[in-house]
Amino acid sequence: MTDTLRVLGISGSLRKGSFNTALLRTAIAKAPPDVKVEIADISAIPAYNEDLRTQGFPATVEKLRRQIAEADALLIATPEYNFSVPGVLKNAIDWASRPPNQPFAGKPLAIMGASGSTSGTMRAQYHLRQIAVFLDMHPINKPEIFVRTAHNAFDGSGQLHDEGTAKLLPQMWTALVTWTHKLKG
Ligand SMILES: Cc1cc2nc3c(=O)[nH]c(=O)nc-3n(C[C@H](O)[C@H](O)[C@H](O)COP(=O)(O)O)c2cc1C
Repeated sequence: MTDTLRVLGISGSLRKGSFNTALLRTAIAKAPPDVKVEIADISAIPAYNEDLRTQGFPATVEKLRRQIAEADALLIATPEYNFSVPGVLKNAIDWASRPPNQPFAGKPLAIMGASGSTSGTMRAQYHLRQIAVFLDMHPINKPEIFVRTAHNAFDGSGQLHDEGTAKLLPQMWTALVTWTHKLKG
């Protein structure tokens, strides 16, 4: 259990002041020493078009696919848009998932999210779990991290002030690390 685990973090929001990116950064700051987290940049991935793909994966997608393939596990922080995952996140997943060598297959996954409402991305996270089923990923079930009324949970500089979530992040890491080692055998 001494091997360093490589985790790829993905935020489903592109905005600078994103609560989900802040949540991802907070989680990274609390990662155990044997976990190294890299953050994927999905901001320049074009809208999926099969005609484009037949010309080859764009460089941004090639990079994302390589990062996913090289990661031992993924950590996705998703906003909720209209009760589902944002288009930019789904678009990045759609691109990366195309053959050959679908890179998500077999990857352990942890999901979390922050939204302005009191449901804290519940519906989006369950949609993401459904997507993970098709992609043959292995999400951890608990803890579920739903950051509700995110404007109250973070201050203006993206610091988390929600004690409940702060307590769940180490539990998430323990669950993800244990699960990842179990799946690696
Ligand atoms: C197009 C759109 C749809 C949204 N739909 C929802 C929703 O269904 N549920 C929800 O809780 N918040 C919804 N919101 C509000 C987001 O939770 C809020 O903008 C949040 O800050 C987005 O995450 P971010 O801070 O990481 O960018 C929506 C926002 C946008 C822009």
